[in-house]
This record gives sequence, structure tokens and C-alpha cells, in this order.
Amino acid sequence: MRTIDSLDVKGRRVLVRADLNVPLDGETITDDGRIRASVPTIRKLLDSGAKVIVCAHLGRPKGSPTPKYSLAPVARRLSELLGEHVAFATDVVGESAQATVAALQDGQVALLENLRFEPGEESKDDEVRGAFADRLAALAELYVGDGFGAVHRKHASVYDVPERLPHAAGGLIVAEVEVLKRLTQDPARPYVVVLGGAKVSDKLGVIANLLSKVDRLLIGGGMAYTFLAAQGLEVGGSLLQEDQLDQVRGFLSEAKERGVDLVLPVDVLAATEFAPDAPHEAVDATEIPADRQGLDIGPRTRELFAAKLADARTVFWNGPMGVFEFDAFAGGTRAVAEALIASDAFTVVGGGDSAAAVRRLGLPEDGFSHISTGGGASLEYLEGKTLPGLAALEDS
Ligand code: 3PG
Ligand code: MG
Repeated sequence: MRTIDSLDVKGRRVLVRADLNVPLDGETITDDGRIRASVPTIRKLLDSGAKVIVCAHLGRPKGSPTPKYSLAPVARRLSELLGEHVAFATDVVGESAQATVAALQDGQVALLENLRFEPGEESKDDEVRGAFADRLAALAELYVGDGFGAVHRKHASVYDVPERLPHAAGGLIVAEVEVLKRLTQDPARPYVVVLGGAKVSDKLGVIANLLSKVDRLLIGGGMAYTFLAAQGLEVGGSLLQEDQLDQVRGFLSEAKERGVDLVLPVDVLAATEFAPDAPHEAVDATEIPADRQGLDIGPRTRELFAAKLADARTVFWNGPMGVFEFDAFAGGTRAVAEALIASDAFTVVGGGDSAAAVRRLGLPEDGFSHISTGGGASLEYLEGKTLPGLAALEDS
């Protein structure tokens, strides 16, 4: 991939595709990690005298303008972090975008409104997507891909625009890919992967691929209950994906054949309901009452997972161990994070939710070797898939 050093950006209009998809509570940004991660590339382009046009998505507004998904709050935060005025276009490629871009001087920056307000951005129809990409590309002379968290999406701003403009990869994408390469090419062993989160179906591909690569696979979070059920255990009202049971049974036997240590919870916090203040107690994984649901891994599992991480030399962690948004059920996620912080291993946290959890629990970000801005993107990279946004940047 060509880096931005290979582009002559002075005095030119440079379109930067960033991932500014941050969690919002109303208009308040609750975690600005992705905005901060996007600053260095923008800063560098501004310092090189470019006219910088940033484009990004927020949420999933499905092709039409939706006020609650406006990037306006993000423009304000970006401006604070850059210490520069950020001109904000109230549309993506319309009159406001064109006027905003036309007014840019060298070393000035603008942010376009949410790309997903335009149906062309995510269209599956190559022509529809291409027509939108034409309009977006027309705003600029050069393209820099830096939205790592979105490189697994075959969207106009990620995939089609770089076909239309001279392009390069921004510093964030370069850094993210360097780290993930280290995980896929000859990782130091023991190599341990910790997976959590709610949906096992999202992670089937990565589990299938990882079984041939890792020494240990620790499974917590909502997806663990499908694994427990696949072993014939009663999981009560816990999350269960019945349609995945067969495939999960296959993983259990494949792990055994390959000598991979697949570690499941031995106890869970079983609650009477899904609520922050739900009465709950730790029960063995073999004894989850039918009228309870597991909302976190239990204390014995926290110790077991920490022990399985203690001698690791490479760790990748994606997905919370429980419902960390509720204080009572954040302990498992905190325990895994603390085990990674205590470890001397090369530790990578992948995924918006896990990264946000780390920060929300007040844990030090520099306790990890790398916190990725991409969840789906980093998982698909580890699966060995071709990511459209990276492939588009590879050819020049
Ligand atoms: C993310 O939040 O994972 C990225 O910004 C991609 O968003 P998406 O899953 O809505 O495509
Ligand atoms: Mg996501």
C-alpha cells in the first residue's frame, strides 16, 4: 500500500475516508476513541498544505437524512481535537458540500455530512454505487483511505472512490494492518484468543479459521451459552443460538482433534432478569437454573481465564465477557482486561465495544499493545478474508 508520503498534497483537495462512527447519547459523544485515532492523518495532511475533506458514516441511517445520525457533534469534537475550525457541510455531495469545499484554503479542513444519508453509499448495485462515487470523487483530486473500522464494507467511499482518484493509505490503516499482520504471520506462542459478545453467528468464520492458528481459545460473553448448550448443559434463559448448535459442536470436536485448549466458563452470574439491578448469584455452569439467565462470567471463570492468559505471549481479545454496561455484570470484562494489562504478551484489543469497554471501565489504554478501531474489520482480517477497502488501496 502506498502511504500519504507518496502523494504531493500541497494545495490540493484531498478526500479522507475516516471511521468516525462513535457511540452517542443524544448529541453527546460517549467515547471519542475513533475521532482521536483519525486526527494524526488529518493533522499531517493539513501541515502539508492540503485542503482536507473528511468523509465518514455514523450509525445505520439506511440511505436518507436522519437528524439523530448527523455528524454535526463529531465535527465539533474533531475541531476541538485538531485545534482548528472544521467547516461542516450539511449534505454529502450536494450544494452545501460543494460550497464548503470550494471555500477551503490550503491547510483548512471540512467534514461532510453522514455518507449513509445517500443511498448510493451502501448500494449493492455497482452502477448506483458508482454514480455516487463519481459525485464524491468530483469533490477532490486525491483520496486517502484511513477508516480502518469500515474497510470490510464494499461501500462507495471505501471501495469505489479510490478507483477514481490517485490514492494512498493513511497512517491509521497502515498501523492497524501492521499489528494484525503480526497476529496472522507467526505469532509468538502461546497465542491465546479471547472471544465474547452476544452473537456467535457473527464470529463463526473467525472461530473456524482460528482453530488452526491458536493454542488456546477462551470463550465468554453471550456466545458462551451456545457452547455450553452444545455440550448438553441447561442454560436457562441465557442467550442461545439454537441454529448454531451443530456448527458449535463441530468446533468443540475440531478443537479436541487439533489439541487447541478451548476454554468455556465454569461458572456464571445467573440473574432473574436482564436489568442493571437484577438479583443474581454465581452458579456453576452445570447448574444454571431454568428460570435464570447468565449475564456475566463468574468468579471462578475469571480466575481460570486469568490463569490461561498468564503465560501467553500473544493475545487477541474481541467482545465483552458480560453485560458490562450494567455495573453488576462488568466484572468479567474487567477481569479479562486486567489480565491483559498485567501480561507481558503482545496484546491486541479488537472492536469498538471492547475498546469502549476498556475506556468506560476507566482502565489505562496504554496497558495494551494495541487497541484496534475496527471490530468487524479486524475479525474479518484475522479470518483471512480480502477486505474491499484494503484491496482498493493496494493497487495504485
Ligand atoms: C463499526 O462500527 O464497526 C464500523 O464503523 C462499521 O460500521 P457498520 O458495522 O455499521 O458497517
Ligand atoms: Mg460494529
